[in-house]
Amino acid sequence: MRVLGIESSCDETGVALYDSQVGLRAHVVHTQVDLHAEYGGVVPELASRDHIRRLLPLIRQVLRESGATLEDVDAIAYTAGPGLAGALLVGASVAESLAASRSIPALPIHHLEGHLLSPMLSADPPGFPFVALLVSGGHTQLMRVGGVGDYELLGESLDDAAGEAFDKTAKLMGLGYPGGPQLSRLAESGCTGRFKLPRPMLNSGDLSFSFSGLKTAVLVQMSERVLSDAQRADLAAEFQAAVVDVLVAKSVAAVARCGLRQLVVAGGVGANRELRRQLDEAGRARGFRVFYPEMALCTDNGAMIAFAGALRLAGGSHAGDGAFAVKPRWPLSSITVTD
Ligand code: KG4
Ligand code: ZN
Repeated sequence: MRVLGIESSCDETGVALYDSQVGLRAHVVHTQVDLHAEYGGVVPELASRDHIRRLLPLIRQVLRESGATLEDVDAIAYTAGPGLAGALLVGASVAESLAASRSIPALPIHHLEGHLLSPMLSADPPGFPFVALLVSGGHTQLMRVGGVGDYELLGESLDDAAGEAFDKTAKLMGLGYPGGPQLSRLAESGCTGRFKLPRPMLNSGDLSFSFSGLKTAVLVQMSERVLSDAQRADLAAEFQAAVVDVLVAKSVAAVARCGLRQLVVAGGVGANRELRRQLDEAGRARGFRVFYPEMALCTDNGAMIAFAGALRLAGGSHAGDGAFAVKPRWPLSSITVTD
């Protein structure tokens, strides 16, 4: 079964071809970072227009790199939500039209399902069930994953997501967009312990998160004095440590609560080196394994959508009737095995 995957939920256009016999055949991602950089964040209308420009050439490129044609494709999977409505519509309309033209199924895929299944594309994949820590720009969630479509929400952020906190804090520290990678780079040259920042909800006794107060705490530190470059790096390091401390503590608690031995980390913040280091250490100390997607598949991409589509198709999911609706807001725990 060969599934073409299309991702266009935000500021990356991703296309991939996944073959259930041989694995990932090709995947390409076009990032719009340069397009949005001068605005300091994603401009939805610009994002949609760029997806329109990029999508068909990227599909041609993936088919060429796979040595395949559209005739070889058995199904087309696309991100139907959550995300930016206009951006989602570009991927949905291209996928549905191409699928209709060939009378093959078009499969609407949940973006976060793509992220959380993406570690299964690596050479040493986890098996079900596992606990997933989903840390993207818009979501911070802990889920118990029993199988494809079996997602139980254990806890989530009550306000900002971890990635959003990285991005907003980076912006107020004068770092460019996207902030997460830049802030974590700055943090690597700083020392923790020189600034005091809270660890929000660390001892709340549940698996909820709250990150919006952290950026305010950073703002307070910055307004009290003019920081040297070294102090800015120290502040970045402390911010990163605060986010990582909470993510690690709650992940450890979730693994223990579910009585499982596998933790899957997915979403853009999963690329953070300090988070990986501390989760690995916690796993070693407490006897659970931590799985990550390959670095290139941590942030948004078409491979995870193609892969989720292939698993859903194998599980008996059916395509719609050609009519489609994107879902800019779409709780992951609301989807089922047969969706
Ligand atoms: O999963 P993703 O690519 O897109 C969404 O679905 O949101 O995640 C993007 C988020 C952004 O907030 C970005 O700043 C963050 O992931 N991010 C990082 C790192 N790389 C990406 N945050 C912290 N450290 C990183 N190295
Ligand atoms: Zn994402």
